[in-house]
Amino acid sequence: MRSDSASLNGLALVRQAPEVRTLGTEVRWIASTGSTNDDLKALARAGAAEGLVLVTDEQTAGRGRRGRSWQAPPATSLLQSILLRPTWLVAKESFLLTVLAAVAAAEAIEATVGVPVMLKWPNDLEYQGRKLGGILVEAELRDLQLEWAILGIGLNVNWDPATLPELAERATSLAAISATPVDRGALFVALLQQLDLRYAALREGAQTALYEAWRGRLSTLGCKVQAETVEGPLIGTAVGVDRSGGLQIRTAGGTLHTVHAGDVSVRAID
Ligand code: BTN
Repeated sequence: MRSDSASLNGLALVRQAPEVRTLGTEVRWIASTGSTNDDLKALARAGAAEGLVLVTDEQTAGRGRRGRSWQAPPATSLLQSILLRPTWLVAKESFLLTVLAAVAAAEAIEATVGVPVMLKWPNDLEYQGRKLGGILVEAELRDLQLEWAILGIGLNVNWDPATLPELAERATSLAAISATPVDRGALFVALLQQLDLRYAALREGAQTALYEAWRGRLSTLGCKVQAETVEGPLIGTAVGVDRSGGLQIRTAGGTLHTVHAGDVSVRAID
């Protein structure tokens, strides 16, 4: 597939500067780095302003959730981290930041590429059961308030699943689905604009609207699932999510269990 790395270079991004209030007011493009989340964490600790975005064409040590690595062939993906300082959000609502990233990414993809996106609980972007992207949110607390949070978002855009057989069974890319290369610059701008809109709404109190938008996209609900908990596997039907983002699983005996994203991995088993 065609590489469109030119459309992601720094100058092009400046030309395409998104109309945003907070997120994406400053965008820095890096040709290659270890992990944009790690780079932005250092900048956050050094006092960087809310809204700063780092975007790269290649990560040599990209990180995923639960200690996994995140792989993406160079110049084929959208790999970015966004710095937030949501000091107004209480720590127990911080799962809404993950929700914000997942919902905004799904909306940006649908608006620019026209591919319908579902979410595998808690926040994997997927198309027909194959992973299209993932979210890694990392935050620092002070006195139970959020000092800063980093939204790390990786989207599979222009890579060909045939070139990565180890991923092809469970992952796909937007270009593979739409059978045409996707303009990463346009998708990047749409992503920042949607994140900015949803973030402003959240600050103004739209918790419920964001939560409902997330719940409405969860492909996991209604599925038979297996959660790997510290007590062992938990098998049942995913029947709902609670207001803190926990997944409610009803076992065959009728007991309702709630599992949390930081503690378990969940997969559909039918
Ligand atoms: C997951 O599904 O496990 C989350 C993947 C998150 C990947 C992104 S790519 C940009 C940012 N930098 C990283 O090292 N990880 C996130």
